[in-house]
Amino acid sequence: MAAKTGNNNYDVKDIKLADGGKKRIEWADNDMPVLRVIRERFTKEKPFKGMKMSACLHVTAETANLVRALKAGGADIVLCASNPLSTQDDVAAALVKHYDISVFAIKGEDNKTYYKHLKAALDHGPVITMDDGADLVSEIHKSYPKLIKQIVASMEETTTGVIRLRAMERDKALKFPVIAVNDADTKHLFDNRYGTGQSTIDGIIRATDLLIAGKTVVTAGYGWCGKGLAMRARGMGASVIVTEIDAIKALEAAMEGFRVMPMSEAAKEGDLFVTVTGDIGVLRREHFKVMKDGAVVCNSGHFDVEIDIPALKKVSSKVQKGVRAFVDEYVIEQPSSAKASARQGKRIYLLADGRLVNLAAAEGHPASVMDMSFSTQALAAEWLSHRGKASTLTAGVYEVSDEIEEMVARTKLASMRVAIDTLTPQQQKYLSSWQEGT
Ligand SMILES: NC(=O)c1ccc[n+]([C@@H]2O[C@H](COP(=O)([O-])OP(=O)(O)OC[C@H]3O[C@@H](n4cnc5c(N)ncnc54)[C@H](O)[C@@H]3O)[C@@H](O)[C@H]2O)c1
Repeated sequence: MAAKTGNNNYDVKDIKLADGGKKRIEWADNDMPVLRVIRERFTKEKPFKGMKMSACLHVTAETANLVRALKAGGADIVLCASNPLSTQDDVAAALVKHYDISVFAIKGEDNKTYYKHLKAALDHGPVITMDDGADLVSEIHKSYPKLIKQIVASMEETTTGVIRLRAMERDKALKFPVIAVNDADTKHLFDNRYGTGQSTIDGIIRATDLLIAGKTVVTAGYGWCGKGLAMRARGMGASVIVTEIDAIKALEAAMEGFRVMPMSEAAKEGDLFVTVTGDIGVLRREHFKVMKDGAVVCNSGHFDVEIDIPALKKVSSKVQKGVRAFVDEYVIEQPSSAKASARQGKRIYLLADGRLVNLAAAEGHPASVMDMSFSTQALAAEWLSHRGKASTLTAGVYEVSDEIEEMVARTKLASMRVAIDTLTPQQQKYLSSWQEGT
């Protein structure tokens, strides 16, 4: 039920969870030194004074620290969930109670509530929006065209969102500028690779208690997330198979020493399947039919469309929900010859309803890596705030500037006490002149 505290409306699971959430936000803050430096500067400079913002992001302890930084900079910000299963209810409550921020997010919310929460964020009347999956931008274009005029720009956090936005740009459907935060090196090289790599395995282990060593792990997709996942699964002793549709990525995986094959082959071998493609129908009926008894399937890509769950339901004679938290058992009847050895048919375990397993069954990416993603996000918002309504940006998808990336990388290195070399005058001349090079 939506409620109100002070000036803020909110809809969270239980406001009494707030004190626990505050501890988790503070714990994450310890590992977000770059964002802390930015927050301290924002507190003094107030770059967002009087600006209304709406953010649709995974409501985690790390996101809470981003929102705190924006509020410290003077933003009047409302937060809603970018996925029905990724909300940390204690964090949502803490943001309302301890940080005076309107939050609309409940873990496990149904579709209707999810869209009601998006609506609440848009009813705030933002001039800057932030998305993880382009839901706010998409809703504004579909149902809130009146807002288009006042939007200075939006920011997009994930690969799937950027793909949606570039498709809108291509079709001339995008009506305001968007910054592709995901495409910054300080974001996808670290968050998608090391963040998703580690937290996906974390989610799988928390949900199943599976021993990764000795298992055959099939990674569908060898993009930034898939690379991180394959690397970490191998590091834990798994034999890793990669499936791809892109020849160059497949070649990279093969030269990295992974087995590469079509899913029709991999489906027969895998013990654990993880989709991270951003694509639809990656695991389908024909794959479920040939999987081994006890196979575990899950997804870490943005939308819950990578595993064809309706097809899995259709081929199953029995579904037992919640055999453990975030684990559903699907039983597929075997042909009669195989049946003799299989007690009750073949079992396939689906994790987290096919939604982002790292956010649903674990806590999402560690704070240290979100420090970089959200610092890039906060600085991109500041860059936009300087432009305000007099923005010279036309509708389209824009990159994060090199200066922002440089600042984030250098501050992160300093926080890790890692020093690097500087070009000597001779090296500068050598590298910048075409007359050198002999
Ligand atoms: N779980 C998380 O916290 C998290 C974090 C970042 C990104 N994401 C999401 O993960 C997904 C992947 O992101 P990314 O940055 O790795 O993208 P990417 O574009 O770098 O990689 C995706 C890869 O999947 C491959 N692919 C596409 N269709 C395929 C198919 N049918 N079979 C096999 N491979 C296929 C592509 O060729 C590409 O190499 C996106 O949906 C993104 O939004 C999730």
